[in-house]
Amino acid sequence: MTPATTPATTPALAEDFDVAADWHVAAPYDFLRRLRAGQPVFRSEHLGAYVLTRHADVRAAYGDPARFSSEGSLTISRSLTPQTRAKLGEHGSFLSSFVANVDPPDHTRLRRSVSRAFTPRAVAAMEERFRRLNEDVLDRIAPRGRADFVAEIGHEPSVKLTARFIGVPEADEAFVQAHVKDWFMLFLSPQPPARQLELADSFLAYLDYVDRLVAARAKDPRDDFTSLMTSLIGDELSHREVVELISTILLGGNDTVPNQLGNSVLRLLREDAWPVAPASIPGAVEECMRIDGASLGSFRHAVQDVVLHGVTIPAGSLVLLSTDSAGHDETVFPDPERFLIDRPNAADHLVFGYGIHFCVGAALGRLQLRTALDVLGRRLPGLRLAPDASVAYRRSLVGRGLSALEVEW
Ligand code: HEM
Repeated sequence: MTPATTPATTPALAEDFDVAADWHVAAPYDFLRRLRAGQPVFRSEHLGAYVLTRHADVRAAYGDPARFSSEGSLTISRSLTPQTRAKLGEHGSFLSSFVANVDPPDHTRLRRSVSRAFTPRAVAAMEERFRRLNEDVLDRIAPRGRADFVAEIGHEPSVKLTARFIGVPEADEAFVQAHVKDWFMLFLSPQPPARQLELADSFLAYLDYVDRLVAARAKDPRDDFTSLMTSLIGDELSHREVVELISTILLGGNDTVPNQLGNSVLRLLREDAWPVAPASIPGAVEECMRIDGASLGSFRHAVQDVVLHGVTIPAGSLVLLSTDSAGHDETVFPDPERFLIDRPNAADHLVFGYGIHFCVGAALGRLQLRTALDVLGRRLPGLRLAPDASVAYRRSLVGRGLSALEVEW
């Protein structure tokens, strides 16, 4: 577990974000409330970005790709050292053709291809498999009476479901999981120089793996996402686009859903709302996303000078659309720091984004969260935090996820 070096409550006079401090991810809400009230367009020296914090502004910026571009928005590579960049070579700008990282017209074409795999029927067909994967974990763990929810319960079903969906053979799952984590750390979480070089090696090995998977499916197609996307190479998609899609969807599936599940379970236990009655599960999932979203926001670049609330955001500036703050905006969600399992408009959170880049996996994410809460609530109705459980979050610019969560039942 990451040792707590700084307090997890917002310092009373926090004047900027601070990725090295625990409060930045764990409890930024005092700070965000003050920004919404007094500086809705905030220049963060620490993030090197302008931060939009009001729900209406965040939503409007997501909906305005002509002024807020997604190009290069996922790769916060300015934090990489020259040595790391040299090692990565052409892959330093990796993700440059990933669907979330491009604007129309490329985005329109890529989005159409990806969406083919996420039809309502295809998503619904994954429910039974996911339910079974959750039951399997609990068959193994339940007799023990105690576990680290993050490491031992929350991740495995999503990792396995995503692997099957993509077409990663079971024997390679552990390899993929380890490397996807390194990928995330390298590009989206600030790292010291020596660690960057290690992570870069791991990332290159991962890319090489995905490249070989695409080549194998091109030769011998199966019933999986990789084969479907590979069949579009030369027609709708390039080889590189397919490799980037697959590597990134593995991250989406392996990490964001389990992070959201961990945040949700912690919230429900602390609110004394465990187990959730089946009829309340869909609402609980939305309220947990609103109040403890696994995604903190999305980056954009201002295409032109944008004047908002009297502040000029100069063309070319990096802008963070803080969905975390938007979910706590008191003008949309009254009494926002209170958890209300049946809050009528909880689903108006922006944790899946909004507009043309709205999360293509949102229905699959929701399906997994609902199914997991259903199975867990039934199998472990007495779930509670372990008395010695300390709660620590991974340090990240864009994601909220627990590094461990000790539970008993
Ligand atoms: C709770 C879980 C999840 C959260 C919080 C989440 C969050 C997001 C957000 C905020 C965006 C918008 C990014 C932007 O506008 O810059 C996004 C896009 C995307 N997500 Fe998710 N996601 C989740 C699950 C998934 C899953 C399960 C998949 C696929 C298996 C997935 C695949 C994608 C893809 C491909 C995009 C890019 C869409 C586009 O640019 O058109 N996500 N996600």
